[in-house]
This record gives sequence, structure tokens and C-alpha cells, in this order.
Amino acid sequence: MSEQNKELEAKNRTIASIFRISGLLTQQIRLDEILRSILISAEKELGFSASCLFLMNDDQEHLDCRMVRGFGEENEKRAYIKPFHLERHDCIETGVVRSGSVIHFEDSLGDPRATSIDRRITEKLKRGSIVYAPLTVKGKIIGCMGVNRPREGARISASEIEAFTIFANQASIIIENSRFHEQLMAERNLNKSILESSPSGLLTLDKKGIITAVNPEAARILRVEPNWILSGRIEEAARNHRGLKIFEDIFRNPASQTKEYDYIGNDGLQHSVEVTVSPLKDNGGYEAGTLFFFKDQTEKKRISEQIQRMSKLAAVGQLAAGISHEIRNPMMGIAATMELISDSLEPDHPQRRLLMKSMEEIGRIDNIIGELLNLAQPREMNPEPADINQLIGDVADFLSGLCRKKQIDLLLHCNPRVPLVSMDRKAMREVIINVALNSIQSMKKAGSLKIVTTPLDRRSYNRDRGSVQITIEDTGEGISPEIRDKIFDPFFTTRADGTGLGLSNCHRIIEAHDGEIFIEDGPAGGTRVHILLPADSGKGTS
Ligand SMILES: Nc1ncnc2c1ncn2[C@@H]1O[C@H](COP(=O)(O)OP(=O)(O)OP(=O)(O)O)[C@@H](O)[C@H]1O
Ligand SMILES: [Mg+2]
Repeated sequence: MSEQNKELEAKNRTIASIFRISGLLTQQIRLDEILRSILISAEKELGFSASCLFLMNDDQEHLDCRMVRGFGEENEKRAYIKPFHLERHDCIETGVVRSGSVIHFEDSLGDPRATSIDRRITEKLKRGSIVYAPLTVKGKIIGCMGVNRPREGARISASEIEAFTIFANQASIIIENSRFHEQLMAERNLNKSILESSPSGLLTLDKKGIITAVNPEAARILRVEPNWILSGRIEEAARNHRGLKIFEDIFRNPASQTKEYDYIGNDGLQHSVEVTVSPLKDNGGYEAGTLFFFKDQTEKKRISEQIQRMSKLAAVGQLAAGISHEIRNPMMGIAATMELISDSLEPDHPQRRLLMKSMEEIGRIDNIIGELLNLAQPREMNPEPADINQLIGDVADFLSGLCRKKQIDLLLHCNPRVPLVSMDRKAMREVIINVALNSIQSMKKAGSLKIVTTPLDRRSYNRDRGSVQITIEDTGEGISPEIRDKIFDPFFTTRADGTGLGLSNCHRIIEAHDGEIFIEDGPAGGTRVHILLPADSGKGTS
């Protein structure tokens, strides 16, 4: 082959090798794989027997061997664990990086420029003719790569050195591209893991109201499947998931401070979330959408309401216990005296009727004191597994006459799948009757009283077992917001003939059953009372 033809063929091979490694630019594979492909290509296409590639360490002081091939397994292993110090180690690798120029040793043992380190490595690796080229990106040296041809092989020509230099330039771009991609992926993964492990719910909308991110905690709080709502419009998602309506409203009327919002979830229960809103900016600092951070406050709110009620009850109970016998004893004295006076009068004496009336009133006071004392003492319960639907059926029979008289439709929706509940039947009957009577009393005209039972799985209640939800709903006058947090207080009543002990008693009984009772506005303007009772551990829903 003529010299000219040889030149031409070498150029062809260079172009082919560059073309081949350029394909790596678009592949999303790990940097190590990229480096291996570059070296294989350099050997195969450019005709070398071994190769190596070094990259600057993050400390910018050391040169790490990142890939080496063809020098024997033992030597290669050693190369990986011993980086070169750019200043302290004088060898061809550090020399190329320091100077930024290509270095070629025709005979790596005999070349006068070879340092003691070079010679030692050459002896071990049996290097023959070697050429090293810097890896440069935008004028910055990021490392170097070298190739070797055995002593007995053809000498490395000037055009081969030129081809290798061009190849190294192209390899630099590919390496930098891959490193950039890896860094991007690492940042993306970091962002993703922050999102995934965040203890707060996180939801983002773009400027048009399209949902762009929903983290697992957000999905848990709102009980949504992220894939169903991602990339959809917030108003569409809100149509199917009532909890998302809050975000739609804030999106339409932006508010910047942290605020608590209540909503009725798809499970029919009241939920509370504390939402912090902040604008999302793009790289240029321009508004790109809205970011919502939120926390589930439902359990916290219920517990704090419950604690408040309990402490009020405890205070009243203490007071009651303290003063009741101080009142009862003299009252009993008065009653005995009255009885004596009454007995001493003629049976038809006009004062006798008045005395009887007064004694009846004393009896009423005594009853109230008895109830007060009840508040102070923990009520004894005899729980046993029972069917709540059956109990509700009994209560409905009891209430049906009263409802008919007041033209109230009594509707029962008892789900047969509700689990058994461990309860004191007598006490629980008292609860349902008290709540239902309140409903009946609140309906001044014809209306309806609905009692619904629903089995809940353990997620709805954050419990280790399922539960039963009993909902008692009326179309009465409702409860105004001003008295909402007082209705469980003992002796709070708005009815002329009420004692105001109904709901506080209910609360005590439900609490003794490890349950919850809470009130919300009914859908048709009336009131809805929810009672949650844990399932009997023998037969819970999962
Ligand atoms: N379903 C309801 N609709 C409207 N208001 C209600 C309802 N349930 C309770 N309330 C309000 O809560 C107050 C307290 O109820 P609670 O049952 O504790 O006492 P009461 O019904 O007034 O008296 P008692 O039950 O001791 O006879 C009632 O007076 C009423 O104002
Ligand atoms: Mg009542």
C-alpha cells in the first residue's frame, strides 16, 4: 500500500471511530460503560493493544485511573487503587494533564523523558510505544487517555497520533456529557427522594392549574391515586376527590399564609388540613405555578377537642363531687321536715298540696345532683361483642311512635357488613337515643331522621383494626357556629326543658368505648352526628 493510501485509510479509520463513539452521546448509560466503550473503540478502530483513561478527582489534585484495559488483571487492579498526585508524581499521565499537550514515547523504556515512575510502570505493564493525549472540555483539562502498542508492533506514525488526538477530543465531549447527565440524574433522584420521604403532603400546579406533582404523603392524606390525577386539571380532580377542592379554591383566590381548612372527604368524614401556599418559580425567576405544603390535622384536631371536652367534664365533676353532699344533706333535712309538717296536716288541708309540690321540686334537685355526681365518677361498662345494626333496629322501634307524631320520616340504612363492636348495650342504646332525640327536638316541622351504619377499614380511622361509623342525620334547624364548641359541655342547653347533659353523657360513654363522637353540618342544613366505634378485635375489618 502506498504512503498516500495508508494516510487515507488512517483518516477513514479516525472518522469511523469518531462516528462510532459519537453514538454514545445519546445513550443514557453509566459513565463507566461509556469509558469502557471509548477505550474499546480506541483499541479496535485505531489499532492499539492496550489503553487507559484517567480523570481528575473532585479535589483537583489527584488523577484517578477510571478505566484500563489490556495490561493484565493484576496491574489493572493496582492502577485503580493508586491515584497519581498531580504535583508529587512525575510521570507521563500527570505530565500530559499539567502541560495540556500530547506526549509520545516511541520507546517507553528508553525515552530520555521517561521518569523513574514511568520506567517502573513500563517494566510492570510491559509498555512498548505509548501516546497520551489530554482530555479537554471548554479549555479545562479533565484528565487524559493513553494507548499502547507492543514493542514488536509497528511504530506509531504522526498521522496516528493526530487521529488519536482528535479521538481524545471527541471522547472528552462524550465524557463530560455523560458526567453532566449523571449529575442531573443524581439531583433528580435527590429531589425525588426528598419529595417521597417528606412528612408533609406536597402538591404542585402549573400556571394553568395542571397538577404537576403529588408526593406519597399528599396521596395518603387526600386518599388519591397519584397516577389518576397527575397531569390533569385541578378542577377535574376536585370533582372526584372532594379534598382537592381546597386547592382549587386557593388556586383561584390565592392566599399566601398558612391556614387550616376543613373538608368532607370521599369517606364522608370531616378532615382538616393545614395548608401553606407558595409560588413556584422557574430557573429565570418567573412564576411557574403554585406549591402547596400541607399537613393532616384531622386526628390532632379531634384529639384536642376531645381533650378539651374531657378537661371540662373533669372540672365540672370535681366541683360537683365537692358541693353535692353539702347540698344534699341539708336538702334531705328540709324534705324530712316538710314530710313531718305534711303528715301533721289534715289530708285535705290546702297547704298540703303546696308542700307536696315543693317536695317534688326537691326530688328534681336531687336527681340533678345525682347526674352531677355521675359526671364525676367513671361509669362502669360491661362491654360484649354486639351487632350495632340490631341495637339501632331496637332504638328505631322505640322512636317510631314519636317520629310518626311529629311527621318525621325515620330512615335506616344499616350496612350488613359492619363488624361486631365490643359495647355496653345499655349505655350505647342511651347514646343513640340521646342523639336521635336531639335530632327530633331540632325539627320544628316535618323532616327526616336518617341513621346510617358503615364499615370503615383501618386507614379511615388510623387504627390497628377496622371500625364502625354510625351517622345520625336530621333536617332540623342545625347548630350555629357560635355554640358549636359548647354543645358537649355539661348543662349547656338551648332548650327550655333541657338539662344539657345528653351530649356530655354520650361523650363519656363513647370515650369509654375508645371511640369518637363529632358533629358537622348536615347536607340539607340540619345536623350530622358521627360516632366511630372500633370493631371488636375478634372480627375486625382489615
Ligand atoms: N341535632 C341537633 N340539632 C340542633 N341542635 C342540637 C342538636 N343536637 C344538639 N343540639 C344542641 O346542643 C345542645 C346540647 O344538647 P344536649 O343533648 O347535651 O342537651 P339538651 O338536648 O339540650 O338537653 P338533654 O339532652 O339533657 O335533655 C342542645 O340544647 C342544642 O342546642
Ligand atoms: Mg339532648
